[in-house]
Amino acid sequence: MSVLTFPATTTTRRVADDERARILADPGFGTHFTDFMAHARWTAEDGWGPGELIPYGPLQLSPAAAVLHYGQEVFEGMKAFRHADGSVWTFRPEQNARRMQRSAHRMALPELPEDVFLASVQELVAADEPWVPAADGEQSLYLRPFMFASEAGLGVRSGAVVDYYVIASPSGAYFPRGVQPLVVWVSEEHSRAGAGGTGAAKTGGNYASSLLAKQEAAARGADEVMFLDSQTRSRIDELSGMNVFAITRDGRILTPELSGSILEGVTRDSILQLARDRGLEASEQILLIDDVLEQIRSGEITELFAAGTAAVINPIGELVTTQGRWTIGDGGSGEATLALREELTGIQYGRLEDRYGWMQRLV
Ligand code: COI
Repeated sequence: MSVLTFPATTTTRRVADDERARILADPGFGTHFTDFMAHARWTAEDGWGPGELIPYGPLQLSPAAAVLHYGQEVFEGMKAFRHADGSVWTFRPEQNARRMQRSAHRMALPELPEDVFLASVQELVAADEPWVPAADGEQSLYLRPFMFASEAGLGVRSGAVVDYYVIASPSGAYFPRGVQPLVVWVSEEHSRAGAGGTGAAKTGGNYASSLLAKQEAAARGADEVMFLDSQTRSRIDELSGMNVFAITRDGRILTPELSGSILEGVTRDSILQLARDRGLEASEQILLIDDVLEQIRSGEITELFAAGTAAVINPIGELVTTQGRWTIGDGGSGEATLALREELTGIQYGRLEDRYGWMQRLV
């Protein structure tokens, strides 16, 4: 049992039922927020203080707060899914709790105990239950736990005051075009992370460093950017906020190994498990961009896809480099990609048996 719970400390003005229904009809991704947010504060002197649910709203922060200057911050991404019987579940939350601890360690932030993390998510979703979209379709309540150094001061040191929040956002597909094959620009100029850096941590700086390359991708008509390793610019790392997978004609599924500079995706790990059980030979390995392009050209690689909590599993139809354009398969959504997607979402929405015990009931 958690020593820290998250009771509602004040009442909140709830969004009116008809306004909430209007939002839930077409929520987009990450643009609407619920009635409550969870909060707890840590100080170097006293450790974690009491948890609370407070009305969702702006934060009061010193302009000198360390996070605004030196980026000492970590976050997580997870989802609450409504099942057909009305119950609400989340997917492998202990994995997010542990990854947040690893990210926090790398960023010199305090580690939030796993049971406190789980309590914050559980109690927020219970209070915001009307915001969990209906079971039909593929919408969910996206959950964003995050933690940052709020202590005021411009010296470069780890903050002695740290705030933890969880906010929630009813969401549909991550990509504006829905689950359609992506066009992905391969950035040869910018990397998102370097050896010994923070690439494996879920911290804002990694995402900030992807933005210029994302703008360059957009200027070439691409939806996403693929990063290569910073040292040799030859090995595939990941996309701006998703891991990447390839499927071969002879039934192998390949993904870049955890080199220390890519995110240890919960979806990535789940896909490897599902793929192995489907009889695909799964391999975490160095993927050289030149080999991948050659194998796309020869037809050896038949499918490519992006994977993450927000993106779920999204086909990639084309890679664009300074050398030209590479269409994967027929440029459409690959069969094996869609089958994996169907199976993963089937488990998440309770349409398929949870044979790995991945789901945890919240409401
Ligand atoms: C997630 O998939 O949950 C992330 O945090 C990635 C971000 C691109 C939305």
